[in-house]
Amino acid sequence: MASVTLENVGKTYPNGQVAARDMDLAIQDGELVVLVGPSGCGKSTTLRMVAGLETPTAGRILIGGKDVTATPPQDRDIAMVFQTYALYPHKTVRDNLAFGLRMRRLAADEIGRRVREAARTLGLEELLDRKPAQLSGGQRQRVALGRAIVREPKAFLLDEPLSNLDAKLRLQTRAELARIHKQLGATMLYVTHDQEEAMTLGDRVAVLEDGRLQQVASPAEVYRRPANVFVAGFIGSPAMNLFRGLLQTDDEGPRFESSGCTLTSGVGTIPGRSGPAILGVRPPDIELCDRESADLSARVEVIELLGSAILVHLRATAAEEQTIRAVGPEDWEVAEDEVIGVRFNRERLHFFDGDGGRRLN
Ligand SMILES: Nc1ncnc2c1ncn2[C@@H]1O[C@H](COP(=O)(O)OP(=O)(O)OP(=O)(O)O)[C@@H](O)[C@H]1O
Ligand SMILES: [Mg+2]
Repeated sequence: MASVTLENVGKTYPNGQVAARDMDLAIQDGELVVLVGPSGCGKSTTLRMVAGLETPTAGRILIGGKDVTATPPQDRDIAMVFQTYALYPHKTVRDNLAFGLRMRRLAADEIGRRVREAARTLGLEELLDRKPAQLSGGQRQRVALGRAIVREPKAFLLDEPLSNLDAKLRLQTRAELARIHKQLGATMLYVTHDQEEAMTLGDRVAVLEDGRLQQVASPAEVYRRPANVFVAGFIGSPAMNLFRGLLQTDDEGPRFESSGCTLTSGVGTIPGRSGPAILGVRPPDIELCDRESADLSARVEVIELLGSAILVHLRATAAEEQTIRAVGPEDWEVAEDEVIGVRFNRERLHFFDGDGGRRLN
């Protein structure tokens, strides 16, 4: 396996569409980095540039420390797994796995060894003599993965490989992929638009918006300290509550004021700043309280049972447009249409610049 490095990589398509801007990303040998972002943000383009299927219009790409920017795909020694995987319908699983190696004229016993090993890793041993039509979606996906594994590449590139599977199978295959990654010690760049997939699978998560990397960090870091408002809103479900307002520091210390709520205590973690700001509070960081000590009073609009927890949709009484989502224990004492007081956990407040959206605290 090998490291994969992007240095100031940019991509502008001939029609003027910019799909990647000044991208810096260093994937360590054996690391699994998940590239996540909304549709059209440039994930596939980035992956295709690493594979050699697209040429960057700026910057360099290195594999194992070697500049491959001008190297054709077949000489990069990288395996790519796509969302739509075309297996050969008339070949057995065994022949599907072996085909690429035969084309590369590997010795028969070496092919046999690699196919056996991949089949064992992926739990396909029982299925080697079946044709793709006789497999479930998840099994087919594993065969597609197997074709990448038998190549013993320097790195794996995966573009939404699970999105064709139903929810249950997606969870199963995701866990399997995590296990395979550990077992092979494989360098992987994995693309998804699903933040939950990114958080559970990645050693590190790279959040992309509009061709620009917004934050590259561990899942915990991205969740606890999002670098800006975009990352804050994109990572975590239900999404973080955001309050636009004004941050002020006067004799009584810092305070945050918005039409929905006013915070006078616990704002002190921000180095003396004043001006437009956005307060972020994650739904589980909201507590119920009496209305005297509340940061906010709100009307309960809808209560949804999530299983072990409930999701409460609220609307601030002081600002009609301000909706709030709170997650609490399933026995939380709230009722629809009731007006309640809520408090924000002071240890977990997020403040962002009202203009650029950068994290302040
Ligand atoms: N060959 C092309 N020519 C021009 N523009 C392109 C081309 N391929 C992609 N684009 C544009 O580049 C941007 C990034 O596309 P890309 O396929 O990388 O997005 P993505 O993040 O993979 O999206 P999705 O989650 O929908 O797969 C989009 O605006 C897309 O329309
Ligand atoms: Mg894509």
